[in-house]
Amino acid sequence: MCGIVGYTGFQDAYDIVINGLRRLEYRGYDSAGIVLEDGNNKLEVEKTKGKVDDLVKISEGLKGTSKIGMGHTRWATHGVPSDRNSHPHLSNNNKIALVHNGIIENYDTIKTMLTEKGFTFKSETDTEVLVNLIQYFMDLNSETDFPTAVRYALNEVYGAYAITVMHEDFPGVLVVGRLGSPLAIGIGEKEYFIASDASPFVEFTKEAIYLEEGHMATISLENGVDIRTINDNSKIKPEIQELKLSLEQIEKGGYEHFMLKEIFEQPKSVHDTMRGRLLVDEGVIKMAGIWDHIEKFKNANRIIIIACGTSWHAGLIGEYLIEEYARIPVEVEYASEFRYRNPIITDKDVVIAISQSGETADTMAALKLAKEKGAFIYGICNVVDSSIARITDAGSYTHAGPEIGVASTKAFTAQLTILTLIAFKLGKHNGNLGNADFMSLIAELDAIPKRIEDVLASTNELVQDIAKDFVSTTNFLYLGRGYNYPAALEGALKLKEISYIHAEGYPAAEMKHGPIALIDENMPIVIIAPKKGHYDKIVSNVQEIKARKGKIIAVVNKGDTQVSAMADYVIEIPETSECFSPIVASVPLQLLAYYIAVYRGANVDQPRNLAKSVTVE
Ligand code: M6R
Repeated sequence: MCGIVGYTGFQDAYDIVINGLRRLEYRGYDSAGIVLEDGNNKLEVEKTKGKVDDLVKISEGLKGTSKIGMGHTRWATHGVPSDRNSHPHLSNNNKIALVHNGIIENYDTIKTMLTEKGFTFKSETDTEVLVNLIQYFMDLNSETDFPTAVRYALNEVYGAYAITVMHEDFPGVLVVGRLGSPLAIGIGEKEYFIASDASPFVEFTKEAIYLEEGHMATISLENGVDIRTINDNSKIKPEIQELKLSLEQIEKGGYEHFMLKEIFEQPKSVHDTMRGRLLVDEGVIKMAGIWDHIEKFKNANRIIIIACGTSWHAGLIGEYLIEEYARIPVEVEYASEFRYRNPIITDKDVVIAISQSGETADTMAALKLAKEKGAFIYGICNVVDSSIARITDAGSYTHAGPEIGVASTKAFTAQLTILTLIAFKLGKHNGNLGNADFMSLIAELDAIPKRIEDVLASTNELVQDIAKDFVSTTNFLYLGRGYNYPAALEGALKLKEISYIHAEGYPAAEMKHGPIALIDENMPIVIIAPKKGHYDKIVSNVQEIKARKGKIIAVVNKGDTQVSAMADYVIEIPETSECFSPIVASVPLQLLAYYIAVYRGANVDQPRNLAKSVTVE
């Protein structure tokens, strides 16, 4: 949801900013802009609707002109994607430039006040209001210096923001602030980097400060990094962290798209999620986050899982897992609904938040609400040190590695892996999962990365061929039962996100309560039908579809005959216990969505209107 890059140091700021924006383009990609301080301390701005490549076309002249600057890649909130609405935005006196990620909720009131004072606005953005508010405070009192004016302005706004600001009269200085949107400061040798995540500077430094909520920093080569609280200007000691991220992890590694790379990384990412946790030889699951708080889980009235999108689908499968193996009641809620419906939460509830990015605004707000009401908060995040990871009482990282493709793939299977570990761990501890079953299940779980590897090898080309037949299709149905009902929802979401084909997921038995009306010879139906998991019932559903001439794409176990005989297309996956089948079945569904989208010429890694981390509500 918008990417910010800033730099001051000895290298060419243009290169650092542009390359950094390319790495952050997954966060938003409808427009891009750059501002550099030139040799005369003047601010040079270039910005445009479109991608970073479009920005390069109009801004190459700035290359080699400056050692300090900042840039932005936008995901539109206020105002359509256009040159005018692109960041950086300049103040009326053209001296202050600002880039912003987030939403200023009270921008309208401030805009009215500034308009009455004579300010004018070129864009429809909330950001232009903020940059002019900074000018307003400086105009009001000539004693007010630049960082102070930024602080005054931030105290007047509410909403969510990460900002970086430059001022012509304060050369060599970058001022940053954050509330609700992430911002990292990379600490190099005689250089500083600013970015929405560490990927733009990971090749230059391994040291970073993650700016905390409600903090701002003034950064210059002369005075280093001065961190203050926004509300009362208290000085904060910087906490420098070592980055674990490597450059290789954030590059495509020979794949055409990040999404394909990430699909193929799943044997490794699922293995990495289990590494050090699943100790099959010792017959234990080690999860400090759960173990240290085992009484909370044991005595919980219920577990509430909150999440959005794909993570919500993982949560639904988590419900099946935890209720089956640990027999603890689970409710799964969309974070956006949970936070606004005055939910009943007590200190006997455990709330699990699932979020790949760890920055999703709705999930974050729902968590804060649950925390205020006394619930114990557990996080399942992929991004280390993300905002959600930091406000939870305990949690487990998925360790899937950076996921750059906007459509979540490996993070989803890693979330399922963590939820499986949690369910088995709790079940074993509270006696609902006997030792023999536990041992056999963990041995099977340990082999899941190999099962995924087999599925990738055996289905990739086949699915590629199947995809060719659906390039012009306009609707899809995805059906599954039990554990594979959420897998069907996820399959449908993947397809619609990246191919823009309308797709619906349903529990297979619900089909006859409505969606069956849609079925004719033009409707493809993806049906997940593993042997273990209401197979007989699924057979009946397939017959009902067949009778209405629907085109059946069946995901079945190797050697299946009954469903396969009725299906138009058959994708075979290895047989597993039912609880593992969503992990294995999701892989060919990811491939199907991917290849259909590629054949339709869609931008798979950066689908229209989407962004990787949704930091606005
Ligand atoms: O980072 P999160 O897991 O909190 O993100 C939640 C959703 O925005 C995300 O899963 C979204 O649905 C993805 N685009 C799915 O591919």
